[in-house]
Amino acid sequence: MPFPIMVALATLIALAAATPTIPASIHDRQQEAPTSTLAPCAQVSVILANNNKAPATVPADLAYECLGTIPLNVTSAKAILFEIPLYLNWQSTLDVLKNPPAEYVEKVQAPVDILAGLDVISESIDSGDITSEYQFGWQLYKLFGEAHDGHLAFILDVIGSVFLFSRPLPLVSVSEDGKKLPAVFSYYDVLGVQFKNVSYTPSHIVKIDGTDVNEYLENLSQDGSLQDRDALYNNLFYNLAQISLGSSGTGTGMFTGGGRGRFSPLAANTTLDFANSSTTVIQNYARPQVSFTNVTSGEDLRRKIVYDEGSVGVSPPPEKVNPTQQSVPEEVAAIPPGYPAPVVPGPSNLINGFYINAPGYEDVAVLAVPNFVSSSYNELRFQAASKQFLAKAWSEGKTKLIIDVQANGGGTILQGYDLFRQIFPNTDPYGGNRFRYNAAFELVGQAYSEVASQYPRDAGLTNYTLRSIQTSYFDYHGDMTADGKPFESWHQKAGPYDVNGNSYGAVTRWNLTDIYLPYQGGINVTGPSNLTRWQPENVVLLTDGYCASTCALFAEMLTQQGRVKTIALGGRSNAKKIQAVGGVKGANVYQWGFIREFPRSAISLNVTLQDSVLKEYEFSRVISRSYSDGINVRDAIRKGDDSGLALQFKYEEADCRLYYTPEMTVSAAAIWKAAADAQWSDSSKCIGSTGGYHSPPYAKRASRGETTTLSPARGQIHAAQALKQFQALENTFSIETEIQPSCDGFMQP
Ligand SMILES: *[C@@H]1O[C@H](CO)[C@@H](O)[C@H](O)[C@H]1NC(C)=O
Ligand SMILES: *[C@@H]1O[C@H](CO)[C@@H](O)[C@H](O)[C@H]1NC(C)=O
Ligand SMILES: *[C@@H]1O[C@H](CO)[C@@H](O)[C@H](O)[C@H]1NC(C)=O
Ligand SMILES: *[C@@H]1O[C@H](CO)[C@@H](O)[C@H](O)[C@H]1NC(C)=O
Ligand SMILES: *[C@@H]1O[C@H](CO)[C@@H](O)[C@H](O)[C@H]1NC(C)=O
Ligand SMILES: *[C@@H]1O[C@H](CO)[C@@H](O)[C@H](O)[C@H]1NC(C)=O
Ligand SMILES: *[C@@H]1O[C@H](CO)[C@@H](O)[C@H](O)[C@H]1NC(C)=O
Ligand SMILES: *[C@@H]1O[C@H](CO)[C@@H](O)[C@H](O)[C@H]1NC(C)=O
Ligand SMILES: *[C@@H]1O[C@H](CO)[C@@H](O)[C@H](O)[C@H]1NC(C)=O
Ligand SMILES: *[C@@H]1O[C@H](CO)[C@@H](O)[C@H](O)[C@H]1NC(C)=O
Ligand SMILES: *[C@@H]1O[C@H](CO)[C@@H](O)[C@H](O)[C@H]1NC(C)=O
Repeated sequence: MPFPIMVALATLIALAAATPTIPASIHDRQQEAPTSTLAPCAQVSVILANNNKAPATVPADLAYECLGTIPLNVTSAKAILFEIPLYLNWQSTLDVLKNPPAEYVEKVQAPVDILAGLDVISESIDSGDITSEYQFGWQLYKLFGEAHDGHLAFILDVIGSVFLFSRPLPLVSVSEDGKKLPAVFSYYDVLGVQFKNVSYTPSHIVKIDGTDVNEYLENLSQDGSLQDRDALYNNLFYNLAQISLGSSGTGTGMFTGGGRGRFSPLAANTTLDFANSSTTVIQNYARPQVSFTNVTSGEDLRRKIVYDEGSVGVSPPPEKVNPTQQSVPEEVAAIPPGYPAPVVPGPSNLINGFYINAPGYEDVAVLAVPNFVSSSYNELRFQAASKQFLAKAWSEGKTKLIIDVQANGGGTILQGYDLFRQIFPNTDPYGGNRFRYNAAFELVGQAYSEVASQYPRDAGLTNYTLRSIQTSYFDYHGDMTADGKPFESWHQKAGPYDVNGNSYGAVTRWNLTDIYLPYQGGINVTGPSNLTRWQPENVVLLTDGYCASTCALFAEMLTQQGRVKTIALGGRSNAKKIQAVGGVKGANVYQWGFIREFPRSAISLNVTLQDSVLKEYEFSRVISRSYSDGINVRDAIRKGDDSGLALQFKYEEADCRLYYTPEMTVSAAAIWKAAADAQWSDSSKCIGSTGGYHSPPYAKRASRGETTTLSPARGQIHAAQALKQFQALENTFSIETEIQPSCDGFMQP
């Protein structure tokens, strides 16, 4: 499914050197809207009926106008606003978000009172400021987004199920030599310079829609789900690790409509001004997610996608134009573009082991882990790949290990524990976590623990009903205390314990020897099958800030317990230090539908609970209006930290920062070489570092005036080989982000 732009690009390849890299045809409107007086959604319908090319697209502004005509059902909206707190009560950070630590506010994000925000939205409905379902959904998206918690989401049907927006021009932010301040370039220009003998001198972007490029992009990046501003900024751009994940990553970046960018509405076009005074206008478009056949109005559209009148759980799924293929991942995926051949390949490019084939790097192994998602289908192969690779690398004299977690939004929690155990077999993973105390949490635990206590702790191995009770968090016999002891009652596990004025359950830890572990966490935590002895100083964690959820838990163990250093890539165009972990650091995500099942099932175990708050979940309909949702139910708590502060609110700089260079946007090996150099040869390569590293002499010299330029790759490669690489990367421009199956420790892209 190529972007329309790619047709034009074929022409471009033929014209090669002389033409500007941005094809002229994107200046033209892709489809002229009918000049009729039809309603916007009817115009969409006409365009799509007369257009059978894939993917079907309509002008972004027309899509936006159409969305604006979906009338708001006030009754339904009010019911949603009334029900949302039932789920928000489970959000572990709900209280601290209102008044986070000063350092978080200064360097990360502003405070937000989400419950109060719901009241503001309610008032906007009453005052007539919100009149369409779309405005309502977008206000909710923005409000939840202010928490910048990748596990917390409520994306209303009208935001995710009707149109997804695209701006078909991938960008990158690169430093010419890894020292000068990075500047923003069209990725086409980088490809042209890396793989073709382009005759023009590419120029960086200085303005977007008339606004300073960095101001514009930093603002846009805030629609993303990460908390760290440098990580959010990185996520705007083309990134090889994200590309290696296919549709489960953030595509070609948020600027193009990848990842969370797909929800951000777009105007008709985007104007780019370059430093050489040239200007390009890109036509933005939207991709419909439902059939528009016979749709003549916003009301029609509403009937197709919104299910608020039926009873819970019986809503038909929205009719899809191109039903998403939830296909079984390929056993051995093709080598992703920009990567060398793996020494040990894992399933579906979720984990791959590499060596660096260049002189001077003979002792370095690279374990690339862009994802911890495992399924019953691939979990053993995921574990096997890491075991096999680590043993092989060690036995072949690789004493140094780069763990590359770029693009890693997490996955199966215990997969992170398992990988940690494989690298440091003698260290017991800590992984402290805690729930927010709330009335439903308390009652569900009482009911579950009461029933679970009547049976031995292996009775559920053959009784599914019992197993689902005994393997849940709400049987106090599961998990262990912070110091590794069993809990003696639900009351001991649930608390409430007062921490800095807020109520929480106890700090708990996974019991890795629990017989129920594979049912609770999906896998058995095993450990190394062979003796490797990685020294902490010979291991380094390499991130692009996207690291979230299970990846954040893994990073916490690796750095705090394993004493491993971190290298963070990219970041905003400045010479400051940046964080390595920029995605949610919460320890567990529950889908809203999953939360709803606990009160229902508790009532079935003990009917007297009919008269409690649990009853309210029974009639909850908000989930039938959800495109995607989640609640971060557990804070992660650091070992030995008695501040009581969730890791989510801690600001922690990486040990080393490296800018992306142009070569690093087309070659993963270029990234690994730079990381190995900075870690083991020349720490002065780290940007803006202090303490432990030399102050880089160039940090001062770098300034806005000193422009990064793109110069041809130093090593000339054969023209045919270059064209092949160019085409492989260009083919990735059609990758679109899709919603992913839920996982206990995964941040949706
Ligand atoms: C609005 O929503 C309410 C409750 O969800 C429903 O009963 C009513 O039929 C809806 N009205 C329209 C016009 O769809
Ligand atoms: C100016 O820079 C843009 C972006 O790199 C490029 O497309 C264009 O060809 C350049 N113009 C000139 C006259 O060099
Ligand atoms: C940020 O973007 C929003 C629209 O997404 C706009 O309303 C606002 O003015 C922008 N702010 C800045 C500082 O550009
Ligand atoms: C860009 O969009 C605006 C409307 O938002 C329109 O007036 C203008 O003509 C468009 N420019 C181009 C080059 O398409
Ligand atoms: C569209 O409307 C026509 C005429 O009423 C009808 O025959 C056809 O089945 C409808 N198509 C769909 C997909 O609803
Ligand atoms: C399974 O366990 C439940 C308790 O949750 C019990 O009521 C039921 O009788 C058990 N079923 C069997 C077949 O043992
Ligand atoms: C962990 O689980 C095992 C097996 O179920 C049990 O024997 C052990 O007591 C548990 N440990 C703790 C600390 O609860
Ligand atoms: C976990 O280990 C147990 C005991 O060795 C085994 O029976 C079970 O099949 C394993 N489960 C998974 C999912 O690997
Ligand atoms: C363990 O490592 C040794 C050499 O270090 C090797 O001979 C042996 O085959 C390895 N065993 C496994 C199971 O990988
Ligand atoms: C049912 O719940 C009520 C209220 O929480 C409690 O008092 C009672 O002991 C429970 N009954 C059983 C059988 O668990
Ligand atoms: C670039 O030009 C040089 C010299 O003309 C040539 O040897 C090389 O093959 C060309 N490279 C590409 C990628 O076209």
